[in-house]
Amino acid sequence: MTSVTSPATDPAASGPAPVPSFAVISGAQVRTALEGREKELVHLVEATYRLHGAGETVNPPSYFLRFPDRPASRIIALPASVGGPVRVDGLKWISSFPANVSSGLPRASAVLVLNDHDTGYPFACMESSIISATRTAASAALAADWFTRNRPRPTRVGFFGTGLIARYIHTFLTGTGFAFDSVGVYDVSADSAAGFCGCLQQADGAGQAVDITVHDSAEELIRSSDLVVFATIASEPHVTDPAWFAHHPVVLHVSLRDLAPQVLLASANFVDDVEHCLKAGTSPHLTEQLTGGRAFLDGTLDDVMTGRVEPRTDRPVIFSPFGLGVLDLAVGKYVYDAVARAGNLHVIDDFFHELRRYG
Ligand SMILES: NC(=O)c1ccc[n+]([C@@H]2O[C@H](COP(=O)([O-])OP(=O)(O)OC[C@H]3O[C@@H](n4cnc5c(N)ncnc54)[C@H](O)[C@@H]3O)[C@@H](O)[C@H]2O)c1
Repeated sequence: MTSVTSPATDPAASGPAPVPSFAVISGAQVRTALEGREKELVHLVEATYRLHGAGETVNPPSYFLRFPDRPASRIIALPASVGGPVRVDGLKWISSFPANVSSGLPRASAVLVLNDHDTGYPFACMESSIISATRTAASAALAADWFTRNRPRPTRVGFFGTGLIARYIHTFLTGTGFAFDSVGVYDVSADSAAGFCGCLQQADGAGQAVDITVHDSAEELIRSSDLVVFATIASEPHVTDPAWFAHHPVVLHVSLRDLAPQVLLASANFVDDVEHCLKAGTSPHLTEQLTGGRAFLDGTLDDVMTGRVEPRTDRPVIFSPFGLGVLDLAVGKYVYDAVARAGNLHVIDDFFHELRRYG
């Protein structure tokens, strides 16, 4: 787990308590702090899941702000608190505006606010679409590792939906030691599939040549992959036939709403957090509504990491991670510490101004 540093304070401040500082961290700084650190970040995410499993976090339900005039869009607030050696509170505020993509802007944009454990003062605000994609991809790579420890390591990966999250997941899988003979690609947008293949070819340039196939059919992609990554923006299930999964792949169901309940019912199902994931019309939530219970769930990733549950090998394994704010906080604090250590914090002078109770 990352070491803990306290937010900087202004030593010249008068009065009994130092004036809390407030820094703004740009996307460029975030990227520099995270790039090439896939293994370290997967360890950090694993440690954070373990803290969460041990009850050393607070992670209330995410709040979904939706708009009657823009039904496809939303902004989600994820407040959270991480204890243990990380000791930070905060909030991720992340928008999803799918129409951005057609005008050349990424779908998601976000900021993360970090609050000091002892005073509650916010001490940093940082660009967070990169942090969000990073923690999502690190969690996916961690799950791919744990869910394939008792079966052959996957050599054929398939990406179902090929936007920014798929790109980050590919980087984290290869950056943490997965080596694939083939990469399958399927997307409803030919442009997205082509853009993703361009990234794969660039990544390939550095290493061993990999066979890349763009599939015309979703069934073909799934049937030819041992590890399937769902990263679409589908709002309701569109993959309904359990027979497509007859070869028992491991499925990272990151986009949460692609699979029909009958596919989940024919599989072993894991989530990151039960209460979080059985909400908001996710496929596990629909399955709970259909069956009237949670018996279809095998456990959480933490159950597997701590040895409480052994994933079945005689069925597909589906991991549906809701995405926990505690992961954003842990990665955000890691970034803050790295930028502070490098002496590159952009502190906003006098951000907190009204600091004497009676003026
Ligand atoms: N669980 C988590 O923690 C977590 C975290 C971050 C993002 N996400 C989810 O990951 C998903 C992908 O995010 P992104 O930023 O990469 O989005 P994006 O818009 O960049 O890419 C999504 C891609 O999916 C494709 N697509 C949409 N519907 C499809 C379908 N039915 N079949 C095949 N392809 C389809 C689109 O053409 C696009 O290329 C989103 O649903 C997002 O909510 C989950």
